[in-house]
Amino acid sequence: MQNRTLYAGILLLCVVHIIGQQSNVVIAGGPMGGEPLVNIGLDGAARQDIALRLNKLLADEYVLYVKTQKYHWNVTGPFFGPLHKLFNDQYDMLLEFIDEVAERVRALGFKASGTMVEFIELTSLSEDMGVNPEANVMIKNLLDDHETVIRELRDYIDYTHDRKDLGTENFLAELIVKHQKMAWMLRAHLVG
Ligand SMILES: [Fe+2]
Repeated sequence: MQNRTLYAGILLLCVVHIIGQQSNVVIAGGPMGGEPLVNIGLDGAARQDIALRLNKLLADEYVLYVKTQKYHWNVTGPFFGPLHKLFNDQYDMLLEFIDEVAERVRALGFKASGTMVEFIELTSLSEDMGVNPEANVMIKNLLDDHETVIRELRDYIDYTHDRKDLGTENFLAELIVKHQKMAWMLRAHLVG
């Protein structure tokens, strides 16, 4: 009788061990080398496509952040004070967006880009290398970039909606409102 209890105990330990091993296999098979699988009701291909778009958005936000900061440093003219401050406020906001977009990529189970080389490769925006335009042109350039991001966001929102990724869709819908407000602030400085 004692032996039976012992065998039953050993059998139970074996079953627990096998189940544990199986769950480890699942965890080890995550998309990013060793991370647990993401099981949030979205298939892997959809999440990957959305993560790629988010990494492109991250690159745009980063390039726009750097450009806005450059203009904050180098703006000149009679409106130096308010423009220096406006650009400061806007790059502070962009820095927050950068972190939020990168963390959204992670929430979908993928790695966020994090090098300037990747950002330059992925972005739809262009840098303003070697020039420091007049204040009005700076405002216009930033406005163009925000409008580019806004148009892209519209596509990404449609894309996530079609794939039922409500979380990313809501996140991007909030982000587009913020970019639209920033674009308005810039546009309001331009005449005609
Ligand atoms: Fe500053």
